[in-house]
Amino acid sequence: DRSRRHFMVQTGIGLLAMASMPAWLRAMEMPGIPKLTPNRASPTFKPDVEFELVAGLDSVPILPGPLTRVQRYTAKLISGPKGTLTEMPNCYLGPIIRLQKGQKVRIHFRNELMEPTITHWHGLHVPALMDGHPMYIIDPGETFVYEFEVINRSSLNIYHPHPHEMTARQVYYGLVGGLIVNDEEEAKLELPSGEYEIPIVLQDRRFNAQNQLIYGAHMHDRMMGFYGDRVLVNGRPNAEFDVASRAYRLRFLNGSNARIYKLGWSDGTPLTVIGVDGGLLESPETFPYVMLAPGERLDVWADFSGRPKGSELTMRSLPFSGVVPMMTEHRMGRGRRGGMGGRMGGMGMMGAMDLPVGSDYPLFKIRVTRETSESPMLPSRLSKIDHYTLSDVANPDKPVPIEISESPMAMLLNGRPYAFNDIQPFERIPIDTVQLLEIFHTGGHGMGHGMGGIGHGMRGRMMGMMGGGPRQEGQGMGGGMGMMFSMAHPIHLHGEPFQVISRSVSAARADAYATVKDGLISSGLKDTVLVMPGETVRLIKPFYHFKGLFMYHCHNLEHEDMGMMRDFLVE
Ligand code: C2O
Ligand code: CU
Repeated sequence: DRSRRHFMVQTGIGLLAMASMPAWLRAMEMPGIPKLTPNRASPTFKPDVEFELVAGLDSVPILPGPLTRVQRYTAKLISGPKGTLTEMPNCYLGPIIRLQKGQKVRIHFRNELMEPTITHWHGLHVPALMDGHPMYIIDPGETFVYEFEVINRSSLNIYHPHPHEMTARQVYYGLVGGLIVNDEEEAKLELPSGEYEIPIVLQDRRFNAQNQLIYGAHMHDRMMGFYGDRVLVNGRPNAEFDVASRAYRLRFLNGSNARIYKLGWSDGTPLTVIGVDGGLLESPETFPYVMLAPGERLDVWADFSGRPKGSELTMRSLPFSGVVPMMTEHRMGRGRRGGMGGRMGGMGMMGAMDLPVGSDYPLFKIRVTRETSESPMLPSRLSKIDHYTLSDVANPDKPVPIEISESPMAMLLNGRPYAFNDIQPFERIPIDTVQLLEIFHTGGHGMGHGMGGIGHGMRGRMMGMMGGGPRQEGQGMGGGMGMMFSMAHPIHLHGEPFQVISRSVSAARADAYATVKDGLISSGLKDTVLVMPGETVRLIKPFYHFKGLFMYHCHNLEHEDMGMMRDFLVE
């Protein structure tokens, strides 16, 4: 088919171009990933919607005082329905793109940054050429034309950059936006819409005294992912929403680089969930709280009926452990059992971390400013999902493995860092099959070295690593702090959404797991799944429609950039 032919031709051209380049220039290319010629518009493709999307530089108001310099998506409709693009006011986030299932879409994506980039439509299943694979990065000034048909069901998706080793920084500096797909099944439900449907993009950021974004490149920022010291909602600090006393549809998107939220209402009201990454659930389900990891989305029915004017409610991130990405314990001079110390010391984050993950902090406030007695009813049936079972899969006895490998020096999948054209036999997937996949996270066996003295000099680090004892409880005799590297990873698979069919956790990790497990949603269709330390998650995923390279990776963006990313070759 077209995308495959294009891929072959382009790969050929790309490799040729690389070979004729002087060595010093080649060295500047992404490691081993050829840069292909940008795709051009096809004369035979007749779009229903056509728009221009630009990644550029801008300055926006975020905090009081000076504007903040950001990277930002902007868009302009060329043809198609008026509601296709909705700006997020005063915000660095890209406009909300609203598409209908079945629409043919052409997007002229132009790079006005000072560095290469490419855009991925996280959640949409599109041909490999249109998927924003790092090999399609375009240089400043270049345009890549995307053409695809929307085959996804109604869902909230994400568009964001995907250049290898630069995704995290570009997202952090502002390149991310929401992409909503609507379909007929959803329209029939007459869910709250317009002002009653609120996008809620959660991100954490860190600013200097001049209101400019700080992005760290310290080793711990890479290993743990980068954490801000304040949470922005839709690009704003201290977010508040004025509502009427009726039902709303809150559409959450975790656009943070690394931060995992445990969403819960301040007054203990359970969360009524109507959808996840891949769209609506079959029927609403309530949860005391919901875990939302980077890349995940959540559709919440929030009914403020009966709440008097003037009343307030806060959405918080609640305490949890085990997914604390960096559990440290300061033990200067005696970092013995550093790993264990780390496990205990969840709150003892590095001094610089003012908003520890796993602590309790507010995200945004809801204020009832208008009373009304008319409110839509929550439908008891939402959608029909075609469930696959083990009898549908091609490999019931031999799941495709996705092993999370953590070590003090690298985060990997299946023990291998990202490399272009490094497809392993188990990563070759026959087209038009349904596959069983198994993500396993041994949860720190051979990890959690007592790494005494990270950031406190070489001596501490070396001593910590050399400290004997079982690796899991390494002796951080060098002092400094005990660190435990076992953490949760949100694993994202490109292509079609999948079903989670089972989750199980090792006994050793059960305690930490208990603090999150009632907020892990396994129903519905997902494209990103939070995998806890010690956990094994089984998925069923169809590989339909398109051949080519489809990535799977950790959506902790620093991990992704570090190489915790691989390709499936669907062939
Ligand atoms: Cu949202 Cu491959 O990423
Ligand atoms: Cu990760």
